[in-house]
Amino acid sequence: MATVLIAYSTTDGHTRRIAERLRGVIEVHGHRVDVKPLADCTGADLESSSAVVVGASIRYGKHKPEVAAFIARHRLALDARPNALFSVNVVARKPGKDVPEGNPYLRKFLRTIAWRPQRLAVFAGRIDYPSLGFADRTIIRFIMWMTRGPTDPTGVFEFTDWARVDAFGEAISRSLQPAPVQDTASADAS
Ligand SMILES: Cc1cc2nc3c(=O)[nH]c(=O)nc-3n(C[C@H](O)[C@H](O)[C@H](O)COP(=O)(O)O)c2cc1C
Repeated sequence: MATVLIAYSTTDGHTRRIAERLRGVIEVHGHRVDVKPLADCTGADLESSSAVVVGASIRYGKHKPEVAAFIARHRLALDARPNALFSVNVVARKPGKDVPEGNPYLRKFLRTIAWRPQRLAVFAGRIDYPSLGFADRTIIRFIMWMTRGPTDPTGVFEFTDWARVDAFGEAISRSLQPAPVQDTASADAS
């Protein structure tokens, strides 16, 4: 059984929801999963994990500074075990921008860090207009209007494709499976 740490950075909780969904998928495969805010993760948390997944949302074009700081602080521990990174933003609701190669935020972020995650994903996030303050709501509505998205200020819009989140969880689970035991007897016989 592997222990997977999912370290997340969120503002409004949607990245945590995605992390919890990944937990559900990975646990079905018999692994243990810890889901923790990235700011609460210690070096010991990483060292005691067989794999680490980092998840972070975009706000006004950037991940929070804590994400790059976490990666720089724990770079060696990340590289020493199976690892993955996912980014959450609403640009990813658009076809082509929902994959790591096509998402401008993830591409830009990867240029600013030395870590090369083994696995990458981008997930479309959620806009909960009523929960936003006036300034944020107005700006996000304007951006949505510019990009042909929903602008109803009373609406909650979830763009996340949960099947893709599940598929990412499955891929992570597969990377944790022990390597098949080689059948040397039959290999020798051939
Ligand atoms: C104030 C604000 C700014 C945002 N800025 C961006 C942005 O620049 N680009 C983008 O694609 N999504 C942007 N989003 C969408 C968020 O990435 C999306 O709501 C995501 O689900 C937030 O995840 P979180 O709840 O884990 O923080 C923004 C959302 C808010 C509320």
